[in-house]
Amino acid sequence: MAKQLVVAIDGPAGAGKSTVAQLAAKELGYTYIDTGAMYRSVAWLTLQQHQPVTDELINSVVPDIDVDLQYADGKTTVLVNGEDVSTAIRTPEVSHIVSQVAALAPVREKMVALQRKMAERGGVILDGRDIASHVLPNADVKIYLTASVEARARRRWTELKAKGYDMTLKELQQDIEARDKADMEREISPLVKVDDATLLDTTGLTIEQVVRRILDICRRH
Ligand code: DC
Repeated sequence: MAKQLVVAIDGPAGAGKSTVAQLAAKELGYTYIDTGAMYRSVAWLTLQQHQPVTDELINSVVPDIDVDLQYADGKTTVLVNGEDVSTAIRTPEVSHIVSQVAALAPVREKMVALQRKMAERGGVILDGRDIASHVLPNADVKIYLTASVEARARRRWTELKAKGYDMTLKELQQDIEARDKADMEREISPLVKVDDATLLDTTGLTIEQVVRRILDICRRH
């Protein structure tokens, strides 16, 4: 049997990481680990407290949160303390506070420990911001997936419109730019492309083309 690789895919919001990582995992028979969903889960539980969102409030939910990602038939179910939040973590409200959540040390320490445990056995694709730079610096394959801000905003807009949200393209572009800035400039584990990651710019590429390139990179190992 071929070696069970550990594949790290990092990149900014809306680059298409989860879509292509999920498809590539299915093709390889690997488990897909959506690390952004884990930070979104903390954000969701924070909003459930119905109190003003402060760092203290966010940190206060960390000790009691149990995040579980169940991956089956190419689909991830996200459970927070046993509750299925797969849809609830994708709202604009959660997206709006998730960068603040992901910047906090207690949050990151707990999530990173979980991610390392999930990746232990190999045969996994993780997507996130700091997988190659911090979570799994010895990953077999490192890919930095990106696209222009305009292309990323348009993808998110199409996605949210299909779900019935009424946001303008401009609002989404501003949201993405603000998240890029927060994710790249934060003190702890900022989004960076490590030197040994393969840069994959998906602007103008189809999902199938991106997946094929990822599979080609994996098969070279
Ligand atoms: O990929 P996403 O949009 O679902 O990620 C949600 C947020 O979580 C994003 O603003 C950055 C953060 N994140 C992170 O800091 N580290 C990761 N490994 C994954 C996501």
